[in-house]
Amino acid sequence: MSYDLIVIGTGPGGYVCAIRAAQLGMKVTVVEKRATHGGTCLNVGCIPSKALLHASEMFEEAGHSFAKMGIGVGTPKLDLPALLKFKDEAVDGNVKGVDYLLKKNKIDSVRGTGKIAGPGKVEVKGADGKTQVLETKSIVIATGSDVAKLRGVDTDGKRIVTSDEAIALPKVPGKLLVVGAGVIGLELGSVWRRLGAQVTVVEFLDRILPGMDNEVARQSQRLLEKQGIVFKLGSKVTGVNSSGATLKASVEPAKGGAAETLDADVVLVAIGRVPFTEGLGLDEAGVKKDNRGRVVTDAHFATSVPGIYAIGDVIAGPMLAHKAEDEGMAAAEIIAGKAGHVNYDVIPAVVYTFPEIASVGKGEEELKEAGVAYNVGKFPFTANGRAKANQQTDGFVKILADAKTDRVLGVHIVGSDAGNMIAEAAIAMEFGASSEDIARTCHAHPTLPEAVKEAALAVAKRAIHF
Ligand code: FAD
Ligand code: NAI
Repeated sequence: MSYDLIVIGTGPGGYVCAIRAAQLGMKVTVVEKRATHGGTCLNVGCIPSKALLHASEMFEEAGHSFAKMGIGVGTPKLDLPALLKFKDEAVDGNVKGVDYLLKKNKIDSVRGTGKIAGPGKVEVKGADGKTQVLETKSIVIATGSDVAKLRGVDTDGKRIVTSDEAIALPKVPGKLLVVGAGVIGLELGSVWRRLGAQVTVVEFLDRILPGMDNEVARQSQRLLEKQGIVFKLGSKVTGVNSSGATLKASVEPAKGGAAETLDADVVLVAIGRVPFTEGLGLDEAGVKKDNRGRVVTDAHFATSVPGIYAIGDVIAGPMLAHKAEDEGMAAAEIIAGKAGHVNYDVIPAVVYTFPEIASVGKGEEELKEAGVAYNVGKFPFTANGRAKANQQTDGFVKILADAKTDRVLGVHIVGSDAGNMIAEAAIAMEFGASSEDIARTCHAHPTLPEAVKEAALAVAKRAIHF
């Protein structure tokens, strides 16, 4: 078979790229080594973790918030197998959705591990060991990422686990020790705490959520601590003894010093992810990687070899599904001779804890470091009518605007539904809005996004409700 485009990997980068290319008239096939399409995101990432976050939040609400709203349900009982089935159904539904979209767009799908076998050639090795060679004009590498390993700690998939297993623990651990206060640590730590585990998070740095605005990270830490999550910052796990019934983790100050031992039933290693290029034949093909193992691309997603492109987690940039999707679309458009583009200054990031933490654009520290003068507008949810009505008043909206031009440079939200609210900020920034533009936009009342408008008003020190 000969194609216009072969996409290796069907995560949000790969399948979106394939669909866009087919829309533009290309003959496309995807190659996927997993039994199902959808990649990390649909199978073991975004979708299952969000289903667990939703279900565990409902469980906590039923136990803690329903009674004060006059809803008597008694003490909720956890049926973990049913909760895990709810999560599996979410995965199944989404994965089938991708199957349908590939078929609808007349995209072929070949099961097996793809390897670049030369210019315009992809060799696919099936589960039965048989290989076939496919020919194509262009290749897109969309092979995603894999879990980063922690030196001195071997995972066993049962008691010392990665996110792959932490989305399917068969029993609520009495004590869960999370290594890494990044996105996975906070989201899956929240899930298991809500379901009854005592959660301790050990973080190497002296703050949580590196990369996020400091004030946002500090406030989020306080709120998560109030919920019972214990943080040990500036610390590292150097080993886990699994010889007994209880795991014994050695924890040392990051800067060196005396070690202490923490007991745990399950240890979750969540210290980041690394690009996945194993078995792809990149070196033989001459495709360059950087010193972090990421495929090197130019602004048009072209690698060092003509006709071979790369997108998503396997290249530089934030490891986020929507970033991979947008790159997939842009790469397909570029390959078709059109002007595909991704604006890396406006990629929102959301942590789906309660409350949610969402941000787009620059944080205060980044602006200070770049020497950009800015004004800050802040508005707390304690002063927002809808948040007060819902009795969910934790958090705030913070808008950073250029001191000279008033252009919005960054928006940061801690609060219920922050993940949905950040979309407004992203659109405003994409259109080059000033804080005054947001402030003069009529927002429906009573809604949480009114806090975004008030924060915009606060940039010019004229918030009405605070
Ligand atoms: P992937 O989704 O990793 O897909 C790559 C695919 O390529 C895989 O299916 C793999 O099997 C296949 N593959 C690899 N090598 C080969 C080969 N040689 N031949 C054939 N197939 C191959 N991001 C968000 O934006 N929001 C979230 O809420 C979110 N939650 C997450 C939760 C967890 C627990 C995790 C682990 C990640 C989460 N992410 C989230 C990150 C998100 O999953 C990734 O950024 C996204 O999946 C990257 O997409 P991708 O297409 O680049 O790669
Ligand atoms: P991360 O990069 O978000 O966080 C890893 C954390 O581990 C950092 O705080 C880091 O300082 C810390 N760390 C590193 N080495 C350590 C050590 N030896 N000891 C203690 N702490 C250590 O990575 P995470 O949480 O594993 O997530 C991986 C990727 O998946 C992220 O890039 C993220 O973008 C993506 N993801 C996105 C989600 C979302 O968008 N909601 C949800 C989950 C994952």
